[in-house]
Amino acid sequence: MLKDAGPLNQNLTVTGVEHKSFDETWTLPWGEVERIRNHYNELRLSLEEATEAHREMIVVFRVYDDGLGFRYEVPEQDNLSDFEIMDEETEFALAGDHRAWWIPAYGDQRYEYLYTESSISGIYRDKSVRAVHTPLTMETADGLFLSIHEAALTDYASITLVVAEDNTLLCDLVPWSNGVKVKAHTPHQTPWRTIQIAENAGDLITSYLILNLNEPNQLGDVSWVAPGKYVGIWWGMHIGKYTWGSGPRHGATTENAKRTIDFAAKHGLSGVLVEGWNVGWDGDWTRYAYRFNFTTPYDDFDIQEVSAYAAAKGVKLIGHHETGAAVTNYERQMEEAFAYYRDLGIDTVKTGYVGYGQGIERRDEQRRLVGLEWHHGQYMVNHYRKVVETAARYHIMLDVHEPIKDTGIRRTYPNMMTREGARGQEYNAWSGDGGNPPEHTTILPFTRMLAGPFDFTPGIFDLLFDEYRPHNRVNTTLAKQLALYVVIYSPLHMAADLPENYEGHPAFQFIVDVPVDWQDTQVLHAQIGDYVTIARQDRNSEDWYVGSITDERGRTLEAPLSFLEPDRPYVAEIYADAADADWEGNPLAIDITETLVDHITALKLRLAPGGGQAIRLRPATEDEVNRLPAYQP
Ligand code: NOJ
Repeated sequence: MLKDAGPLNQNLTVTGVEHKSFDETWTLPWGEVERIRNHYNELRLSLEEATEAHREMIVVFRVYDDGLGFRYEVPEQDNLSDFEIMDEETEFALAGDHRAWWIPAYGDQRYEYLYTESSISGIYRDKSVRAVHTPLTMETADGLFLSIHEAALTDYASITLVVAEDNTLLCDLVPWSNGVKVKAHTPHQTPWRTIQIAENAGDLITSYLILNLNEPNQLGDVSWVAPGKYVGIWWGMHIGKYTWGSGPRHGATTENAKRTIDFAAKHGLSGVLVEGWNVGWDGDWTRYAYRFNFTTPYDDFDIQEVSAYAAAKGVKLIGHHETGAAVTNYERQMEEAFAYYRDLGIDTVKTGYVGYGQGIERRDEQRRLVGLEWHHGQYMVNHYRKVVETAARYHIMLDVHEPIKDTGIRRTYPNMMTREGARGQEYNAWSGDGGNPPEHTTILPFTRMLAGPFDFTPGIFDLLFDEYRPHNRVNTTLAKQLALYVVIYSPLHMAADLPENYEGHPAFQFIVDVPVDWQDTQVLHAQIGDYVTIARQDRNSEDWYVGSITDERGRTLEAPLSFLEPDRPYVAEIYADAADADWEGNPLAIDITETLVDHITALKLRLAPGGGQAIRLRPATEDEVNRLPAYQP
C-alpha cells in the first residue's frame, strides 16, 4: 500500500516471465567456511497494472536447495517516481501450527530477549505480543525446520512478523515516527524475504542462503580486514569493579590500558577494547547521550601514549563509540571520529546504541527534534549503513552493539565484522532476572545466529564473581564457556573476563588457541533448545575444533570424528566438565586431557548439567604418537 497512491497489488497482469539458472562458488575473505556455492533457479515475473496508470513491478524468486528468497522491484516508470510505502502486504501462509522459537519485536530492549518456545497459534493468542523478530525459526509436525528472515536489508525498514489467525504471518515493517514504513524512489528494490528449509536443524546453521542473496564485496581489496580475538576494559564495568565515567574506579586509565595490552601481547591476542575512554559518560549518559564526544579522551587516559604502547607490543586498540542512540550527535562527529582513530592506528571500532523502544531522537540540521524513531526502521537502517561505509573509507572494521539485525551485508562490506543483537553474556553480570538460563545458548545457533556473526563475549572464568556482584552469576560450567568460542561464530571473539582471572589458568590455553576464521563448519548434533555440537576447521592450519553445549540437563553425546583426514593420528586436547561438574553447584570443575584419536574415533562427550566440552584436534607428532594414550571412551 502506497501513501496517496493506492495499493500496488491489484489488477496486475503478467507482462513478462524470465527464467535463469546460476551456479557459482565464491570465496569469503573470512567466515565460518572458506567457499560457498551459490546455486539457484530464478524466476522474474514482470507485472503491470491493468489501469490507466499502468504502474509496473517485478517479483523475483530465487529457489535454492536450502530454501528460497523473493523480492519486489519497482522499475523506473512514468507514473511512479517518489513514493512512500505504508504497508508491505507480504504474507507467509504456514501449512500448520508449527513450533516456533521467537523473541518479541517493538520491545524496549530491541532484540535482547530470551527466546520463547511455543506454537505459532500460541504467539497469536499472546495479546502482549505485537509482532516477532526474524529470524523466526520453526519446526513442523513432521520434523521439517523453517526459518523466515530477510537478506540485504538496504534503504528499507526491517521486517517483523505479525501472527494472524490460521497460522499466517503478516509482514510488518518497522515504521518511521510518522507512520510511513519506507520512503523510496524508483528504481527501487526491497530486501529479499527468505525462507530457509532443512530436514535437520543443523542444516539451518550451514545454510548460507542469506549470504548468497547479498551482493558481492564492494570494497575491493580487503586485505586490511582481519579477524581476531580481543580482551578489554569492559567486564570490569559490567560487574561494577570499574566505572565508564571518571572517578576513583575509572576503568579506562592509561595504566590499566597498558596492563591489559601487556596481557594481550603475552598471550597473542590481537586487540584490546577500551570503553569509557572519552568524555560524556558522567551522569546519566543514556539520557544525556548528546554529550558524548568522540575525539576527547578523559584526562587520565593518554590515548596517544596508549596506542603507541600497543603498537610497540604488536597489539591494536579497539576503539569504542557509545552513541547512547543520540544518532545526530554521532553523525555530526562521525568523519572526525573515524579519522581520529585511523590516525592513531586503530583499525576496529565497537559502536553502541543504548536506547529504548521508539526513543531515538531524529533531529534536523538546526538540532530541532523531528521525530522519535525505532532502532529497526528505515532511518536507522540507513544510519547503520552510513557508519559501515564511513568506517570502510577509513579502513576500519566494525563490531556493532544494539545493532540492526544482520541480513548478510558482510558479504558486500567485509569490514562489517560482528554485532550483538541478542542477549549476550553481559546480562549475566547485571540483569535482575537471573541472567541467561542454560538453554539460551542452545537456542541462539538456530535463531539469532542464522542472521550472522554475534559478539556474544564468551570466556568468563570467574563464573560467580561474588566479590563484585554476589547476586548475579554466569549460568554455565567453565567448559561450556570454552565451547561457546566454537558454537557461536564471530570473526572477533572476546576473552571477556578480567585478565587476572585468566592468568595461570590452564583452561585459558583453549582461548589462546581457538581460531576465529574457519575453512569448514559441520554440525554434529542439533536439538534446538537442548544441545548442539559444532566442528570447525581452522582456516590457517589443519586443526579442527569442536564445541558442544547442553541446556540444564546433563547428557552424553557421541561425536564421530569422520571429518578428520583418514589414517592420520591426531591429538585431541579435551576440555571437559569434570565428572561431578554441574552449572549450579560445581561449575568450575574441569578436566583437561590429551589423547590420540583418528577419523574412526567416536568421542563420548560427557556434558554436565548446564555444561559443555571444547576440543582442539591437531595432527600428532611422532613423539606424541609414542607417548600419548589412545582414546578410551
Ligand atoms: C551495551 C553493550 O552491549 C556493551 O557491550 C557496552 O559495554 C555498553 N553498552 C556500554 O557501551
